[in-house]
Amino acid sequence: MKVHVANHPLIAHKLTVLRDERTDSPTFRRLVEELVTLLAYEATREIRTHSVEITTPVSKTKGLKMAEPRPVVVPILRAGLGMLEGMSRLMPNAEVGFLGMVRDEKTLKASTYANRLPEDLSGRHVFVLDPMLATGGTLIAAFHYLLDLGATEITAICILSAPEGVSAVEKEFSGSKVPINIVTGALDEKLNEHGYIVPGLGDAGDRLYGVV
Ligand code: URA
Repeated sequence: MKVHVANHPLIAHKLTVLRDERTDSPTFRRLVEELVTLLAYEATREIRTHSVEITTPVSKTKGLKMAEPRPVVVPILRAGLGMLEGMSRLMPNAEVGFLGMVRDEKTLKASTYANRLPEDLSGRHVFVLDPMLATGGTLIAAFHYLLDLGATEITAICILSAPEGVSAVEKEFSGSKVPINIVTGALDEKLNEHGYIVPGLGDAGDRLYGVV
């Protein structure tokens, strides 16, 4: 499994404003979108392409275009939805699926409550959007779900990650034949006893959408 931790001053700046408890929801939402676009640039570095011939106003030339079948972007509801716009901006022709996962706050175990995905993901590179990689439970359940549908490669984009979560995902998929990648804005210090990332940013869903 490949883990890429962003190391860029612009990402560090945006993350610092995002973490600040005084940052309001509209600013938080905008920053999440901007961060995803920056992280997506790294996450799509090895996306499959094919060569095409085109004519510019000056001459014929060869270029690259994204290969078929198109990648699939899967935000994990609810908080992953806040990342969709930033991802779509970079890859507007990707297909979009949805996966609703909820974690039990006592056991911290994740279960699926809704999904809208193609039945067959063979040949597809799936980009999973989940802002907080905490215990890893949600991503592990989501990855198994996508692998069962035949995904050919999976890349998760996370705004923040905890070392415990990254290790859990690594352990679960160490023998996977399907390439699994994680691209994250930062690797934080630890999880607290409630499964929150420290220093983190609090509850990403609440900060995006308010408490419901
Ligand atoms: N989910 C969140 O929204 N925040 C955390 O810190 C951990 C999981």
